[in-house]
Amino acid sequence: MKLDSQSRVLVLTGAGVSAESGVPTFRGMNGLWEGHRVEEVASPEGFAADPLLVWRFYSLRREGAAKVAPNAGHVALAELEARLGERFLLATQNVDGLHARAGSRRMLAIHGELFQSRCERCNVPFADAQTYFAAPLPRCETCGGAIRPHIVWFGEMLDPAHLQRVEAFIEEAGKRLVFIAVGTSGMVYPAAGLVDAARSVGGQTWLVDAAPSAEYSARFDRVLTGKSGEILPGLFSESAPSP
Ligand SMILES: NC(=O)c1ccc[n+]([C@@H]2O[C@H](COP(=O)([O-])OP(=O)(O)OC[C@H]3O[C@@H](n4cnc5c(N)ncnc54)[C@H](O)[C@@H]3O)[C@@H](O)[C@H]2O)c1
Ligand SMILES: [Zn+2]
Repeated sequence: MKLDSQSRVLVLTGAGVSAESGVPTFRGMNGLWEGHRVEEVASPEGFAADPLLVWRFYSLRREGAAKVAPNAGHVALAELEARLGERFLLATQNVDGLHARAGSRRMLAIHGELFQSRCERCNVPFADAQTYFAAPLPRCETCGGAIRPHIVWFGEMLDPAHLQRVEAFIEEAGKRLVFIAVGTSGMVYPAAGLVDAARSVGGQTWLVDAAPSAEYSARFDRVLTGKSGEILPGLFSESAPSP
């Protein structure tokens, strides 16, 4: 991939980027956890119906994410950011915190963060690495509301501030935009629509995925099939250094 001193790079990552670290994708779990559909434990309805079940699901994911480490794909993206500075933005659908641990900073966790919780009523997120496997579940010290994972669940909206930052980056970049989607199946909106936004301003679009679907691939200029930890480290090596 040729980048020059004008290129603006927007990267969208999904669960595939963390697969080589050992974090299962939903498809890898067959969309099921302990016999429950993942949608049941990752939705406001699921939390209302059985908060302990939901907390057990996220507690296991917290334990799992704490045990794994960033892989070469995460590191390559952090290195690219270090070279491009303001001309780089990462929007990740992953909640595992591995991009931040690899050094990414110009990053939006658009689907939330596994190691944050928030009060269902007051909403202010706070860092929380605890696990909750049994009652009593945590309550807000201010208002008594239920504490929930700071995750964008099925049926919930993304933070509008995140979307605005991504849209502003795309608009400002125009034809200089290089959009790269990595390890994402393109089935979850609005993230899946970013490729179309990138094309509409005249940007180049790349997909890097181990098993890209025909439908999502058809919306990209270039598709690289393979593991992100193997492809990303070499992908930006031809690039010119920043000015
Ligand atoms: N790590 C995490 O934080 C995590 C894990 C599972 C699911 N989720 C959530 O699940 C939702 C599912 O959407 P999604 O598109 O991110 O995931 P997805 O599970 O729908 O798709 C994962 C994609 O990654 C690809 N893939 C698998 N291994 C790969 C590898 N080594 N290198 C490159 N690509 C690889 C697959 O072919 C697939 O296209 C998202 O909302 C996300 O927030 C997050
Ligand atoms: Zn509260």
